[in-house]
Amino acid sequence: MSFERTIFITGGYGFIGSHFVRLCLQKGCRVINLDALTYAASQGTLKDIEKDELRYHFQKGQIQDRDLVRSIFSKFKPSMVINFAAETHVDRSIDSPRAFIDTNILGAFTLLEESYSFFNTLTEKEKENFKFLHISTDEVFGSCPGDAYKEDAPYNPSSPYAASKASADLLIKSFYHTYNFPVLITNCTNNYGPYQFPEKLIPLMVIRAHSEQPLPIYGSGMQIRDWLYVEDHVEAIWSVLQVGKTGNTYNIAGLNGEVPNKVVVEEICTIFDNIRPRQNKASYRELITYVTDRPGHDFRYALNIEKIKRDIRWSPKVNFREGLKKTVGWYLENDWWWQEILAKGYQAERLGLRK
Ligand SMILES: NC(=O)c1ccc[n+]([C@@H]2O[C@H](COP(=O)([O-])OP(=O)(O)OC[C@H]3O[C@@H](n4cnc5c(N)ncnc54)[C@H](O)[C@@H]3O)[C@@H](O)[C@H]2O)c1
Repeated sequence: MSFERTIFITGGYGFIGSHFVRLCLQKGCRVINLDALTYAASQGTLKDIEKDELRYHFQKGQIQDRDLVRSIFSKFKPSMVINFAAETHVDRSIDSPRAFIDTNILGAFTLLEESYSFFNTLTEKEKENFKFLHISTDEVFGSCPGDAYKEDAPYNPSSPYAASKASADLLIKSFYHTYNFPVLITNCTNNYGPYQFPEKLIPLMVIRAHSEQPLPIYGSGMQIRDWLYVEDHVEAIWSVLQVGKTGNTYNIAGLNGEVPNKVVVEEICTIFDNIRPRQNKASYRELITYVTDRPGHDFRYALNIEKIKRDIRWSPKVNFREGLKKTVGWYLENDWWWQEILAKGYQAERLGLRK
């Protein structure tokens, strides 16, 4: 069987990684997915593609496991590495930062070093095709008081999560500058869409509205994010892999008018009011409650995406209202997916407290 390419993806059972795994398979690639299956992973997410034994290979394990990572390189000889694997929930990084250092810094560094060692075994022709793409976040730049940040804005992370992502970005950039290792970095805004773990804002609110539970919003709810539909995001990553210039960073955002969190929750309530009105009761908005803010909560994230629009010819297609409707519809039709996660009882006491 011939493949377009062999792509080594880490964190492919997570939210964004799983969408990217699907996209790569659609594009005719072979995928090797290394995932530690932490609390944030769900194997249900890819159960339909696991049958494709010729093109999809799963390896359970950690990106900081050097021997395991090395064995994947020697067995599959990938031509691209895409690092999605991370601890991703800001609240958890505030409560216990250690795991963020282990995975997001030491893990990313181990993957980087092993990728570079493998790269050095390649022929000149193979080297030309090799790429290491790291998925990063807008949070590395910190809160944005003015014009949206360009790729060269200074890093100013606020949370341990953001600091760990910033550290990895710097290490990865250093491998380009020092060794001319062909890296790419993408920094994106908040994603939403199907298969997002229920502790993140949008799925959390959808699942709670579904059972008419209180909808807790941090602080004033005026924190601003620029929501990016996950399918737009993975298309952007794919395009960066095809035409991105190594050594470069590309910002990716939804260009959705920077919606405050409280408006996101109100929109979800409106969708529920339309598709499933409460019996003899007022709007779902009645369920909104305001709770103590997250410590160090950044007020606004905003990225300038002129570079990716100009150089890669990518721009987002999905408008936030439409994407949100699709997302709510998906969670309502696929309750088996999140019910399975809730049934495992992942730190359920946390549900509804933060983010
Ligand atoms: N979700 C967003 O809105 C967003 C925004 C900006 C950037 N990002 C970045 O995108 C990437 C993917 O985010 P996501 O929301 O899909 O994450 P997620 O939390 O849904 O999934 C993370 C995946 O990584 C795996 N993983 C965690 N630690 C690992 C380790 N040590 N070794 C191997 N696998 C491990 C988990 O099992 C899980 O499958 C992350 O790097 C994140 O920082 C996400």
